[in-house]
Amino acid sequence: MFREPALGCDIIVVMDTHEIRAAYLDLMTAREHVVIDRAPLVPFGDPTTLFTGSGMQPLLPYLLGAEHPAGVRLADSQPCVRSQDIEEVGDNRHTTFFEMLGNWSLGDYFKREQIALFWHFLTEVVRLDPDRIYVSVFAGDPDHGIPRDDESADIWTALFDAAGVSADRIDLNTEEHGNNVGNQGARIAFYGAENWWSRSGGPNTMPLGDPGGPDTEVFYYFPQVEHDTSYGKYSHQNSDGGQYMEIGNSVFMQYRRTEDGFSDLPRRNVDYGGGLERIAAASIDSPDVFKISVLWPIVEKVQEITGATYAEHTHAIRIIADHIRGAVFLAVDGVVPGNKEQGYVMRRLIRRAIRVATELGARKDFLGDLVPVVAEIYQGHYPEVAERTESVLAVLAKEEKAFRRTLDKGLRQLRAIGDTGSEVTGSDLFTLYDTYGFPIELSVEELRNIGMTLSPLWREDFDRQLDEQRRRSQQGARLGARRRVS
Ligand code: ALA
Repeated sequence: MFREPALGCDIIVVMDTHEIRAAYLDLMTAREHVVIDRAPLVPFGDPTTLFTGSGMQPLLPYLLGAEHPAGVRLADSQPCVRSQDIEEVGDNRHTTFFEMLGNWSLGDYFKREQIALFWHFLTEVVRLDPDRIYVSVFAGDPDHGIPRDDESADIWTALFDAAGVSADRIDLNTEEHGNNVGNQGARIAFYGAENWWSRSGGPNTMPLGDPGGPDTEVFYYFPQVEHDTSYGKYSHQNSDGGQYMEIGNSVFMQYRRTEDGFSDLPRRNVDYGGGLERIAAASIDSPDVFKISVLWPIVEKVQEITGATYAEHTHAIRIIADHIRGAVFLAVDGVVPGNKEQGYVMRRLIRRAIRVATELGARKDFLGDLVPVVAEIYQGHYPEVAERTESVLAVLAKEEKAFRRTLDKGLRQLRAIGDTGSEVTGSDLFTLYDTYGFPIELSVEELRNIGMTLSPLWREDFDRQLDEQRRRSQQGARLGARRRVS
């Protein structure tokens, strides 16, 4: 907030999401980074993962030591899909599709420069309040001989001190311990596995050869949010209780998993990823990411289509807005709804959005009204969305029609089973999946909605039938959700 003498009042300078992305890429360019093109959402030649789920994924060979043609300082804004977060969509900050701001040092600058660079971006460019920035750093892993990251903590302390805000430290080690004792206002919290980053999680779960390292995460604090104690008694950086929102992560990628522990990578890299949508939300002091300029127009259109208000149906409208934005980007990148792998996830997004919208009051096909809204939002930075609107519309509309035809039938059948008073079995769900292409997760959700009981072994039962069918038809994998997704 600034005093504007000409106006005789305070003005708040805030950037919208596009301006934040542009300012970040400008800053990186000024700091001698080459801005590289985004990678497609479906990784090329990487069978381990369905989607690009972080900015580093397309850069893996370079983090492992290959020379990048654009040099040792790179930056971008990478659209990502994390379908494993689908169940969490509906809260104030999870989305399946999001943009990750990224910068990389391939053996060039390291902790000091990276932490100061991100701090500069947050406090001087986006102008977040330093007093509401909290961080976490790595507590060390004695089992693997990896030291506690006091170096990062010291760098943070100097920055907080210079901004005139307290910089107390606390050892929390695990999320659970944090839940029990809270951060007690400490600015810098030390955690173990939470502050280790690799594509596949903590130090113990990494496959051989994978790169990883300690990280330092940055959180924005929302005092206006009441801590949700269902996530733990006390609030702290890594709690899901709602007061702290992670907005960026600097990974010091310097290790590689070996048979007996870790070895040093040929170079010490920085892999930074920041959630664009979350930084944009922090910049308008909104704990709700759906209020930002790349999501709110979709929310408004969904209100218009369904006649439901966001205030009353927040959770449902978030699901629709998130899923359709994600499905549009998947279609732009050439994914079509289907029964396996990426197509299966896309089908699930579209069908779930339609089902939720139908419950809210959407009475006719509506995807055709939402696609142009997404295209317009992104026309500046991702013109391919507008350029491919027609083919995207065709793909989504076809799926919408197909789903509508089966939705009523499938739900009627599901309820009919319930009316007999018996439990719904995995075989029942398999029949729906097989006959109507009804995603299994939708059936389960619907059953819970209408209070029906599933037999305890439904999942095993369903999987067995799926395997049998697979063997019979000798097709490839049908259930994409079984593969690791990012
Ligand atoms: N690759 C790191 C992440 O996704 C930056 O958090």
